[in-house]
Amino acid sequence: MNWLQGEMARFRESAGMLASTGEILPRFDAALQAPAQRWVRDAKIAAVERTLDQLPRVTPTTIACRDGRIEIGRPKDLSAAQAVAVQAAMKALIPWRKGPFDIFGQRLDSEWASHLKWNRLKDHIAPLAGRRILDIGSSSGYYLWRMAEAAPRLALGIEPYLIYFAQYLFLQHWIGHPQIFCLPLKLDQLPDLPALFDTLFCMGVLYHTKEPLQMLARMRRLLAPGGELVLETLVIDAPANHCLCPPGRYAKMANVWFIPSRPTLTRWLERCGFTAVRCIDTTATTTVEQRRTRWMPFESLDDFLDPANPAQTIEGHPAPLRAMLLATAA
Ligand SMILES: C[S@@+](CC[C@H](N)C(=O)[O-])C[C@H]1O[C@@H](n2cnc3c(N)ncnc32)[C@H](O)[C@@H]1O
Repeated sequence: MNWLQGEMARFRESAGMLASTGEILPRFDAALQAPAQRWVRDAKIAAVERTLDQLPRVTPTTIACRDGRIEIGRPKDLSAAQAVAVQAAMKALIPWRKGPFDIFGQRLDSEWASHLKWNRLKDHIAPLAGRRILDIGSSSGYYLWRMAEAAPRLALGIEPYLIYFAQYLFLQHWIGHPQIFCLPLKLDQLPDLPALFDTLFCMGVLYHTKEPLQMLARMRRLLAPGGELVLETLVIDAPANHCLCPPGRYAKMANVWFIPSRPTLTRWLERCGFTAVRCIDTTATTTVEQRRTRWMPFESLDDFLDPANPAQTIEGHPAPLRAMLLATAA
């Protein structure tokens, strides 16, 4: 059984926490066929699997979150040879975008200081205890582990980019949280089953789709009536009915399609069946939150802004401004 099949088997055993397994499992199995083929055909993933296979089977003496950093184990939990195997896997999984973590004493600073975003939302959202949660674009799973602190019934991440999904597998290998799962799916590959979730997180994803309204409508269907959407996305500081559709790249990203103003985003949500839309935070992204690190050694925010005018991207668009909205499924 490869590492993806292992996670699929775990999910199958617990999917009854979402809905009747007879109803949902055949749909999930069908949805996972294509990603499962991608997983075995991808040469980089084959190399990653080999390093994951070398991971020692030790139980970390601590799993904790301190000042937003998720700590797994202490240096003394590993022999020297085991520490080498763990480091090799961490390196094979570069780039680490979302964190921070501490793995048996090795600080793993990711590109994003993700705890800053979590701090902005944690006191505003409906309590997660006992809820069925979906995190769209869950990357390494950093937010899934933070959600786990509140004892949800089940938190499922979906992350189509296989290296980020493999980062989750690496972390779950140690944490082994029974309520946390991740599958390598895009939102439009997830079975379109109504009312599966009570809280849905969609952070840093909406601007990556050419069809933002279809994506919002899909999220509305996946939520039970009264369920909560936590939506974080790029916005522009502009009045209602304004939306930036960049002619080419935005902050060097080729896959950014629509950046609405906050009132436009609110209108989109209301048109897609959400009520009680409220903005709980708007923050301009800075290099405190997004920067190059040893574990993400490629270009980062500094390289995406105009050096002569950091209020603009290198292409002359407004620099990244992110809004966090909550909305209720009508
Ligand atoms: C900018 S990152 C945001 C990660 C995290 N949610 C956060 O807020 O820090 C976007 C993530 O969403 C994933 N993604 C992009 N399009 C997606 C889609 N249609 N469905 C699910 N995930 C998607 C990407 O692979 C990437 O890991």
